[in-house]
Amino acid sequence: MDNEQTYQGPQRVFSGVQPTGALHLGNYLGALKNWVDMQNNDPGAERLYGVVDLHAITAGYEPEQLARATREIAAAYIAGGIDPARSAIFVQSAVSAHSELMWLLSSMTQMGKLERMTQFKDKAGKNAERAGLGLFAYPVLMAADILIYRATHVPVGEDQKQHLELSRDIAATFNARYGVEFFPQPEPVIMGEATRVMSLQDGTKKMSKSDPSEKSRINLIDDADTIVKKIKKAQTDPDALPDSVEGLAGRAGADNLVTIYAALAEKTKAEVIAEYAGQGWGVFKPALADLAVEKLAPMTARMSELMADPAQIDAILSAGNEKANALAEKTVREVREIMGFWG
Ligand code: TRP
Repeated sequence: MDNEQTYQGPQRVFSGVQPTGALHLGNYLGALKNWVDMQNNDPGAERLYGVVDLHAITAGYEPEQLARATREIAAAYIAGGIDPARSAIFVQSAVSAHSELMWLLSSMTQMGKLERMTQFKDKAGKNAERAGLGLFAYPVLMAADILIYRATHVPVGEDQKQHLELSRDIAATFNARYGVEFFPQPEPVIMGEATRVMSLQDGTKKMSKSDPSEKSRINLIDDADTIVKKIKKAQTDPDALPDSVEGLAGRAGADNLVTIYAALAEKTKAEVIAEYAGQGWGVFKPALADLAVEKLAPMTARMSELMADPAQIDAILSAGNEKANALAEKTVREVREIMGFWG
């Protein structure tokens, strides 16, 4: 066999976002910004960033919105600083080896492990009997996304750690079952103070695309006025800012605004507290609003420009699909051979 059975190549980074709605500040600070930092700090690695549209159909979705939403995520990647020359930006459904590998891996994934996934339990709710197989099998497709590139590093938010743990498990099961060292163990990369950006209306809930309240989140396409208004209305409490980070305990709304400030300013929460200790929200909120507008405005502008020129986005995606396909096809060919398939 001429399989490359022990992975000794460069670091490979993979991550993805579902095209299920407008990207918001939580997606930017919790994901995209970290990807850009990784890209800029580690020029030697190979990077792939997918718009994971096959995942998006596991919940109710609008077929006539899907292509546009896919371009919008790609535009956010580019506007946020992912450089298509250094990172492949591509569409998951355009690389069919993801689906094929998912099927191959699904026979090595125990149902019991999938049943323990908290995201499935949350999304399926009391109606687990009626949930689609796709929602249940979602983490196996995610494992395939990662393993198809034999990725070594996966920047994700805190909430995806359990899925990543399962991907590691599936990789190890494959290697053990076939007596190979084919898949590396993908490492989660969870960075920054803002891995959890909370709702502006309820500091105990994650900022989410699916929150019915628009005021709960800052969208990456919001204009300056809207950003300022949303921050002004954000949940806080009657107390001034504390003089230590510990003083934020039990003050979810306050903690969230300090966290967002720190992430945007690339400072620690302690540094932000040191600067604003004892100040009221009448001082802090306008400062935060200014900072948010300053940091987000260039990105917002670039995103609108790109969305006005879909052909430009499509050209970038086509180039990314080609790169991704070449790598993915090679892996799935080797997997078929290791598993003993004809051909
Ligand atoms: N499940 C991830 C999320 O909701 C998105 C995703 C799909 C992903 N496949 C992935 C993230 C592979 C990292 C790697 O955020």
